[in-house]
Amino acid sequence: MAENNEKILPTVQWFPGHMTKARKIITDNLKLVDVVIELLDARIPYSSANPMLKEIIADKPRVIALNKADLADPAITRQWIASFKAQGIKAVSVDAMTGKGTKQLVAITEELARYKTDKLLSKGAIKPRAARVMIIGIPNVGKSSLINRLAGAARTKTADKPGVTRAKQWIRIGKNLELLDTPGILWPKFEDMTVGLKLSFTGAINDEAVDREQVVGVFLETMGKLYPQRLRERYKLDGELPAEPMDLLELIGKKRGCLLKGGIIDTEKAQRIVFTDFRSGKLGLVSLDVPEKTAESEENEVAE
Ligand code: G4P
Repeated sequence: MAENNEKILPTVQWFPGHMTKARKIITDNLKLVDVVIELLDARIPYSSANPMLKEIIADKPRVIALNKADLADPAITRQWIASFKAQGIKAVSVDAMTGKGTKQLVAITEELARYKTDKLLSKGAIKPRAARVMIIGIPNVGKSSLINRLAGAARTKTADKPGVTRAKQWIRIGKNLELLDTPGILWPKFEDMTVGLKLSFTGAINDEAVDREQVVGVFLETMGKLYPQRLRERYKLDGELPAEPMDLLELIGKKRGCLLKGGIIDTEKAQRIVFTDFRSGKLGLVSLDVPEKTAESEENEVAE
């Protein structure tokens, strides 16, 4: 990563007041649910996690959904799932746009809630009540998309009816699950510069809040290390890529015909092309966080 990253990161995002409020809403809602679905971005599972989630949810069971798996490197996603399994955490890859992986997610959630539903039965309940769940994740990770996908046609609109209080809304999913309509929004690890950069790459941090040209420089540097062939293929570049990211950006701009008056390369346009390509999967399936390997996680990966 580039040196002096401090100056290219956004200064605005989450103020302490926001954090306290978000945390309070989540803590209140947690009392109502049996299980938490922690939504992470499959391309950056480490960077899109909230460092304090474990402490906030305490001993509430959680399942990790690696969303946007359609954009991530599937081999690395498998490594992440194995790595979580080695830590005793269930994880599943999901694509909230198509619904891929959601059946498995629902099944795991119901299984994790059984501790509660069985307890109610043992206390004399006649039939098990539905498992209750809420989705938690950082902005832009796909919480609303997943809720919509899970809800499908079942989404209720009771709040629009006069006289109905805008209390908690539960969405029934199948016979055994109820999903809280309002997701919990948490903040990522902003104090870590590398994390902040990765969140800018994926668009989780607003483009307007960062020095985009410098961020694209770091992105190209990272891609040049991890997936150089993808850059060559997409932008029809031959041989060695320029070592300087700005030279590489200019080359991409030239190849794409991003020219200003007098033949000057429009790097602003070139960087927009690069990020649009990355975010829409045109640079292929890319993962920018890799899990730490342990003997146990490697074993799990083979067993997947
Ligand atoms: P949030 O509630 O957590 O803030 O996230 P939201 O569902 O609004 O999703 C953020 C963006 O990510 C949306 O794109 C959404 O379409 C996209 N997205 C969500 N899940 C997936 C997924 O599994 N795969 C892919 N490829 N994209 C996903 P957007 O450009 O902001 O909005 P839109 O133009 O798609 O409406």
